[in-house]
Amino acid sequence: MGRVSRHNTLVEALLQWGAPNLRDLPWRRTREPWNILVSEVMLQQTSVDRVLPKYEAFLDRFPRPHALAEAKLGDALQLWSGLGYPRRCRNLHAAALRIVDEHNGQVPSSLDALLALPGIGPYTARAVQCFAFEDVVAVVDVNVSRVLSRVEGTALAARPLQQLADALVPKDSAWVWNQVMMDFGAQHCTARTPQCATCPVRGVCRWKGTGDDPALGSAGVSRPQLRFSGSDRQARGRAIKAVIDGAFSTSQIENAMQLSDDKQRAERLLNDLVAEGLLTRRGGRFNLP
Ligand code: ADE
Repeated sequence: MGRVSRHNTLVEALLQWGAPNLRDLPWRRTREPWNILVSEVMLQQTSVDRVLPKYEAFLDRFPRPHALAEAKLGDALQLWSGLGYPRRCRNLHAAALRIVDEHNGQVPSSLDALLALPGIGPYTARAVQCFAFEDVVAVVDVNVSRVLSRVEGTALAARPLQQLADALVPKDSAWVWNQVMMDFGAQHCTARTPQCATCPVRGVCRWKGTGDDPALGSAGVSRPQLRFSGSDRQARGRAIKAVIDGAFSTSQIENAMQLSDDKQRAERLLNDLVAEGLLTRRGGRFNLP
């Protein structure tokens, strides 16, 4: 089979597999660019089930970019609490300010304008282009990278990966196609338990589950996450949570971080949080920014 017909077969089979039963997710019921942007920033590093309740609450409070732009970052961090990686929230707040100042309060639609916003990389920019504006572009996240490298039977670097993904997008159903790819990666061609025996595209897959997994060396495929328990990330999350809950002194926060016996590490992490603009410190009192 030639390259083009092999790829056509892939697209047809995956659309047939996925389009009739796409997962019903709130960000799939809207084309509102701000809602899509918020969902995609949350989904960058947090799983769908944990994003669901936070997405609704965040948009209830900040239904448009100007609502977030006018709020204090601390108010946004409170609603972000539990999602992790709070820098994303800080970047989203900064992006909202830029959207209000430079784009009249409307999320921009061009790739360059999206990429210029804080916290928006190639993945999120294309997700907004496709899922909000229905542009014919490929949204390449970790799932898509895994699926395509397995189908091709070889690890793919970022540029060939995006090129291949762009070439596959069907012009008349880009939105559905990208959503199907996400579901296929999340539910069928999963990282640890790919269901090759019942795969709808087994006939055109070069890997088929035997031998080294080509996904492991591909662009955007994350190494296994670092242990959360005992990590800096866990302690930083505890510190922010403590301040949200009313703690303000160093010793209260050290306690909450469970680092009372390692004040040096606690101090370093608190200094980082202040330097990153995620906490403020004035006269020995910590506060939300
Ligand atoms: N992960 C990132 N974007 C997603 C989407 N639109 N649907 C489901 N999971 C996603």
